[in-house]
Amino acid sequence: MVVAAVLFTCAGQRVDIVTAFREAGATTIAADVDQLAPALYHADQRALVPRIDDPFYVEALRELVEIHDVRLIVPLTDLDHLVLAHARDHLGGAVVLVPEPETIERCSDKYLAHRFFEEQGIGTPPTWLPTEVPEQIRFPVLVKARRGFGSRHIYRADNQTELDFFLRYTTADSMVQCLCHGEEFSVDVFCDLDGRCLAAVPRTMIESKGGESIKGMTIRDPDLIAFGARVSEALRIIGPANVQCFREPDGELWVTDVNPRFGGGFPLPTAAGSRYPELALAVANGEQLEPRLGDFREGVVMTRFFSQVILEEQDGSLQPVEPQAEAVPEEA
Ligand SMILES: Nc1ncnc2c1ncn2[C@@H]1O[C@H](COP(=O)(O)OP(=O)(O)O)[C@@H](O)[C@H]1O
Ligand SMILES: [Mg+2]
Repeated sequence: MVVAAVLFTCAGQRVDIVTAFREAGATTIAADVDQLAPALYHADQRALVPRIDDPFYVEALRELVEIHDVRLIVPLTDLDHLVLAHARDHLGGAVVLVPEPETIERCSDKYLAHRFFEEQGIGTPPTWLPTEVPEQIRFPVLVKARRGFGSRHIYRADNQTELDFFLRYTTADSMVQCLCHGEEFSVDVFCDLDGRCLAAVPRTMIESKGGESIKGMTIRDPDLIAFGARVSEALRIIGPANVQCFREPDGELWVTDVNPRFGGGFPLPTAAGSRYPELALAVANGEQLEPRLGDFREGVVMTRFFSQVILEEQDGSLQPVEPQAEAVPEEA
């Protein structure tokens, strides 16, 4: 495999992703606006860049592409997807792993996404704008932010009085969505530059906190694999995406959220053999790959914990330091 340099934008806390690309043979360059972003210190090179809304943001990324001969740009949060998609042709020829702006807009507005899925005949919970809720609906429903993230601004209403209350209470531009009653799943997919789904790894959501999956298990469920592929190809995803859905009691799958980036549960599909970093590098090198849906190990379980990077100032900037070996207490 050709070794390539990969630039990660908004690297933040995504140490897992930077590390996986390093292990796949990439030279990693992590960029963030904040010198305390942990992922900066797990990359081969780190760079502090302006804020995304700064007119020089794209310029700073292009400079990094030139200096490090970057072949591939991978954003690690949703924050700069639109900026990168619009600047695709101004980033020094690097492959930018984001879909077209239309897809990004659809994924970031859950009401637009719902309408799109309905048009495409893809299962989605009944959803209305606050002004368009019919007289007779089946409770419970959720008052849910259209552009929410991290499970914020989601309120359950069990009757009309609660619905009226939460619609007044919420500060977010919201929609009303029927509550799903089945089990929730997450499918991590990877699509090539033409939007063809190359891989899909479903996992259970044993436990999540604040929208982040902390315990889960891979499952080789043909319906979920096909659903992940169908949803991502309909949306014309480029690169990674995380498709979240529920299996309703009648067996129907309903999609509730699609994030066009590596999912928060990234280490699990990686451990199960998804090889997404290798796929990304191959795609960036112009290789045509055949889909390998279902090619991963099932029954792989992830349970997560906090970790940290320790830094000290040296020559005017923060540098990682090896943790001091703890004194081992002598046995009595
Ligand atoms: N229609 C729904 N029925 C039941 N639970 C839901 C529904 N929509 C969202 N949730 C729950 O809320 C969590 C966050 O919602 P989600 O749509 O993924 O938004 P985001 O992750 O962008 O905050 C989901 O992981 C799920 O557990
Ligand atoms: Mg979600």
